[in-house]
Amino acid sequence: MVLGEPGAGKSALLQDLASAQQAAADVAGTRVLRTHGIESESPLPFAALHRLLRPVLRLERLPDPQARALRVAFGQEEGSSVEPFLVGVATLSALTDAAEDGPVVCVVDDAQWLDTASADALLFAARQLQADPVTIVFAARDTQASRGNGIGVASFNPEGLPVMRLGGLDDDAARRLLFERAGEALPDEVSDRLVRETGGNPLALLELPAGLTTGQLRGTAPLPPRLLASGRRCAAPPTRRSPWPAVSASRRSPRPRWPG
Ligand SMILES: Nc1ncnc2c1ncn2[C@@H]1O[C@H](COP(=O)(O)OP(=O)(O)O)[C@@H](O)[C@H]1O
Ligand SMILES: [Mg+2]
Repeated sequence: MVLGEPGAGKSALLQDLASAQQAAADVAGTRVLRTHGIESESPLPFAALHRLLRPVLRLERLPDPQARALRVAFGQEEGSSVEPFLVGVATLSALTDAAEDGPVVCVVDDAQWLDTASADALLFAARQLQADPVTIVFAARDTQASRGNGIGVASFNPEGLPVMRLGGLDDDAARRLLFERAGEALPDEVSDRLVRETGGNPLALLELPAGLTTGQLRGTAPLPPRLLASGRRCAAPPTRRSPWPAVSASRRSPRPRWPG
């Protein structure tokens, strides 16, 4: 379970993981399955689970009650209600069945927006996995929801799963990213402020320079008193790029949130 504030690099990390597994697929026979939470889909039960399982689902190989539970869940068969436990077990069975052809890696991004039914089934399956060659990696926004244990987000509780909190880039990596973004070295006092106020959040580091004037970036004009507010004004989101293998190893501990 990867938790981090918006812009911390969770999706980039998952994309890197998926690409690396995909690249090795010919050798290891690994299958990468992907799904993600979508805010507008969160009222639709099983939408995200359907997206994940569809490429590997062989319902005829599951025990009848489990196959029936998934058929009803996915609207392939009529049924008045779906038993959540059965869907969880069926999800586990479907994944371990797929793993008979080779390791399976499930990548689940934006888990905070998963529909509850999918989240429950996937979390159930993740908690049961032991020796099976199946890995499920979730990423979600860390809102430090008040769930007693300080873990997780309001609608998604990864309790019982190993959690990795993605902190900001360390100072060197943050400076390198700024340098790449600005296309020139920034004076120390400018980069110090940008690094300090973003806490190394990659998205903030990519966005902030676009909200500053050339004079401000070069240190010939004063920086605004509140940098984050100024960065938030920039209209275009940063383009997707992947300079990050060079810096991704360098992280600091989680820091106060970048307001996203
Ligand atoms: N380690 C990194 N080094 C450089 N850029 C990065 C790094 N991690 C993420 N980024 C960039 O920062 C932006 C936000 O990353 P993203 O993965 O979308 O964050 P999140 O999913 O946590 O909201 C993206 O443009 C991404 O390419
Ligand atoms: Mg993301």
